This record gives sequence, C-alpha cells and structure tokens, in this order.
Amino acid sequence: MVHYPVMKEKVIEYLNLKEGGIYIDATCGWGGHSRAILEKCKDIFLFCVDKDKEAIEMIKENLKEFSNFKVIYGGFENLKQIIGKEYIGKIDGILFDLGFSLNQVKDSKRGFSFQEEGPLDMRYDTTQKLTSWEIINQWGRKNLIWIFKNYGEIKRPEKIVDKILERRKRKKFETTREFADFISRNYREKPGIHPATKFFMALRITVNDELASLEKGLKEGEELLKKGGRFVVITFHSLEDRIVKRFFKNSPSLKVLTKKPVLPEKEEVELNKQSRSAKLRAAEKI
Ligand SMILES: C[S@@+](CC[C@H](N)C(=O)[O-])C[C@H]1O[C@@H](n2cnc3c(N)ncnc32)[C@H](O)[C@@H]1O
Repeated sequence: MVHYPVMKEKVIEYLNLKEGGIYIDATCGWGGHSRAILEKCKDIFLFCVDKDKEAIEMIKENLKEFSNFKVIYGGFENLKQIIGKEYIGKIDGILFDLGFSLNQVKDSKRGFSFQEEGPLDMRYDTTQKLTSWEIINQWGRKNLIWIFKNYGEIKRPEKIVDKILERRKRKKFETTREFADFISRNYREKPGIHPATKFFMALRITVNDELASLEKGLKEGEELLKKGGRFVVITFHSLEDRIVKRFFKNSPSLKVLTKKPVLPEKEEVELNKQSRSAKLRAAEKI
C-alpha cells in the first residue's frame, strides 16, 4: 500500500468515535483511514465503501486481522441504498476522503497520471462505460470547452480545444503521455505547473461525475446520521471544498464544527506531498 491516510488524527478526533458505534468510511480505498478507525475503537462496526473493485479486494486483505467491518462495493452517491441493504439503523459517523488514492495513480493502467504511460481511462469504477478516451476523442467542441473551463478552471480553452479537434481528426489520442505531451506543446502554464495538470483534473472530474456525486452523497450521508452523529469530509480542490462548505452551512440539521477548514500540519505535508491541498470540514447532526 502506498497511499498515506491524510490528517489521520484529525479524522479520528472529528469522528468522535464511541465504543459500540456504527461508522462508514465511504471512500475506504486500500484502507488507511479504516485501519486507524478500527485500531482506535475495538467495539465499533465499520462499513467500508468504495466504487473501485480493486480497492475492495485489497482492503479485505489489508484489514484481515479485524472482524468488525464489512466491505461494500458502490458509490457514496447511493449511500442510503447500499448501506440500507446491510443495516437499517442510523449511523454515528461518516467519512468522505475525496478523489483518488496514490495506489490508483501509481497504477499506470488506470490512466490517472500523465507521469505514467497508460491508457486514457481515469475511472474509479472500472465497470462504468465512460472513460477519458471517449471524452477526448469523441465529445464535441462545446462540451470540451465547458469542462476545461468549469472543472479545469482554464480561462480560455477555445484555442487548445480547436487544436485537439484538429489533431484527433488525423489521429486519435490513445495514451496519457501522448495527450499530456500534446497539451505541453500547445498550451502555456505558469512556471512550476505542468501544462496538462488542469486538463487531467477536468477529465477526472468529468469521467467520474465527481461534483454531482459529492452533492448527492452529502445529502444521503446527512440523512443516514443519527442525532449527534458526525460527518467528516476531506477535499483536495476548491470546487469540492465549496460544495462541502455550502452544504454544511445551509443544512438546517447540521452544526458546523470547523468554522475554517482544518489543514494538514507542515510536517505532514513534508512527509506526504499529496496532503498539501487537503482541507477537512466536519459537522454534527442536530
Ligand atoms: C483519497 S482515496 C481514499 C483513501 C483512504 N481514505 C485511505 O486512507 O486509504 C479516495 C477513494 O475514493 C474512491 N471514490 C471516489 N469517488 C467515489 C464515490 N463516488 N463513491 C465511492 N468511492 C469513491 C476512490 O476509488 C478512492 O479509492
């Protein structure tokens, strides 16, 4: 396992774990946070949810010394339904640790990273049909401009989108490096940022319908919580953070516990570069 669980101590603190409680790690991945939760309280029950089938297999193996957890394949946008099949009571705490894990990024065949040569894929759930290949090679001009503008926060993507359309008429894009190199040759970015970064982010958000899933998942999670139950969410970019902040603030049945988002300590960022953009927000059901 290469993924390091972000702000582990803060997650435990804000979940306010109680012996006898029922918890959900709704983005369990390979099990970093789940392990911390299970180690902290011996007499709880944890549902570990992820939409990545590989993660589901790995977490069973990684947590095999524990017996008080159940692994469920599924998306948190359907949290009520997938938990409802297993348990009908209310929940004491829910964790969302959004985005991808390093295990997924480091696996070149998943196509998340332009540092690795791989297929244009980017699906968390590999049973889903839509991949980044289809978006790059088949989506129309208007839609490409929209996603790069809104999900990549690229101010004027029109020119580069026209170049993508022109190039794919001659030859389709097949791999992550091929697409990233094409962007590098045709789009200028601020020093220190790889020109393909924002394009890959926009594609990942689109492939996995991340923002709509988050909005739905937050609603479902809130309904599942019992009075006094805790919701803890870690985001990695401003589009996600804005959704969580607004949802917690506007929900009449939630009390915000973090006026400002909790950020990782300098030491954690030094140890784990991936944590640098993490923001944790927590709320309590009232
Ligand atoms: C940052 S990783 C979680 C890492 C984990 N907390 C740990 O400490 O090992 C995010 C995980 O969320 C999963 N994921 C992303 N969107 C999801 C969704 N809508 N429903 C369920 N899982 C999702 C990804 O497959 C990935 O495994």
